[in-house]
Amino acid sequence: MNPVVPTPRVKIAPSLLAADFGRLAEQLAVIEAGGADWLHVDVMDGVFVPNLSFGVKVIETCKRLTTLPLDVHLMVVEPEKYVDSFAKAGASVLTIHVEAAPHLHRHLARIRELGCMAGAVMNPATPVEALRDVAAELDLLLIMSVNPGFGGQKFIPASLGKISRARAMLSDARSNALLEVDGGVTRDTIQACWRAGADTFVAGNAVFMAADPAAEIRALRALCAEQA
Ligand code: DX5
Ligand code: ZN
Repeated sequence: MNPVVPTPRVKIAPSLLAADFGRLAEQLAVIEAGGADWLHVDVMDGVFVPNLSFGVKVIETCKRLTTLPLDVHLMVVEPEKYVDSFAKAGASVLTIHVEAAPHLHRHLARIRELGCMAGAVMNPATPVEALRDVAAELDLLLIMSVNPGFGGQKFIPASLGKISRARAMLSDARSNALLEVDGGVTRDTIQACWRAGADTFVAGNAVFMAADPAAEIRALRALCAEQA
């Protein structure tokens, strides 16, 4: 019998940062029913990035409010201090910045030990090469297509070349890691990212500011010409 080969599937991960916190339960229900694959959760410490966002309590709250896997993006210095508590709070994916983690290899192993998918992320100014030697250890590679810290920024076009180089690097490493893109992903930019090799898309403002977030998720997915 032939082994079952899973169909590669586009993932859409609406970013919590753009949600209306006054009606969080309702907003999470809308994206879940609307076909979102993950909820992207941006943790910012005001040091690694010039903004503050949320911590353990909000992750626990999201875990209670949705069955969507929580894709937690740590924009913090010394991320290793937080991975245990975020895993316990309900993260399914934990992604740490290469720029903030001189011992990235060790921390990726710890994240796996905690039962989470281990992700690494790079800022626009960081070359793809910075992750070559850990490519085989990654469950997910995240390319920032804006400078992190804020939602609603404009997609940096040079990210497309970077996505292609990252895809080639993962393939050289025979890695099955997901390739995610974060920042300025909209109807205008998603298709080029998908063509360049990304399969997982964070979309904050595009989804939560849309009049119909479920329709927006469908539209973004359709632009990737996904095979059903
Ligand atoms: C930026 C965050 C992003 C942000 C994306 O620092 O990492 O996840 O929420 O927001 P949009 O999709 O609005 O650019
Ligand atoms: Zn993010």
